[in-house]
Amino acid sequence: MTVRILPSILSANFARLGDDVARMEAGGADWLHVDVMDGQFVPNLTFGAKVIEAVRSVTRLPLDVHMMVWQPERYFDDFAAAGASRMLIHAEATPHVHRHVHRIKELGCAAGVAINPGTPVEVLLDIAPDLDTVLVMTVNPGFGGQQFIPHTVEKIARAREILTRAKSRAVLEVDGGINRETIATCYRAGADAFVAGHAVFAASDPKAEIGELRRRAVEVAT
Ligand code: DX5
Ligand code: ZN
Repeated sequence: MTVRILPSILSANFARLGDDVARMEAGGADWLHVDVMDGQFVPNLTFGAKVIEAVRSVTRLPLDVHMMVWQPERYFDDFAAAGASRMLIHAEATPHVHRHVHRIKELGCAAGVAINPGTPVEVLLDIAPDLDTVLVMTVNPGFGGQQFIPHTVEKIARAREILTRAKSRAVLEVDGGINRETIATCYRAGADAFVAGHAVFAASDPKAEIGELRRRAVEVAT
């Protein structure tokens, strides 16, 4: 499986966002992970289309926009216009996952569904064939730098089974507490895209850290 490392700009220095984005691109990031929070679906508040547009203007990397917001459909048009490459909505945030996934695709973006640690992966069963990404949260969303929740490993494996059964080539992404110690377990369970905020941004050499995460995912797991 191709391993993708996605630095999360939530851990960037927002006074020097352009520099941090450039460092991640030069450091070998595959995609950038962009956390949008509304202060309602999750307790924290971040940013919207304007920051996505600003990031888009300084990098060619795909932007993986993780929408931790109620009624995500309110933002699809603006985020697509701002340059989002992929939009991930939460299964818990709307009763209309199917409609929204298809709207995201109509706008020319890849579509994904995220699930919180307490949400059963079975909510993905009927939508799996339509998805470009499944995101299994490995912490409760809202903040960077939290501890990985061990029981989510078994959920990654169940999500992989669902994708295999659906003959889906969707990316299986994990987000929260991913670092040198946790990445191999997630890879072994079936994840192939790894969001890393604190691990990459707190490292003295982000490029080396991205390389090390990529290496550990595969080598330690096999
Ligand atoms: C958490 C966000 C994550 C966060 C991950 O709510 O969705 O993307 O940035 O940060 P780390 O890797 O520090 O746990
Ligand atoms: Zn995220």
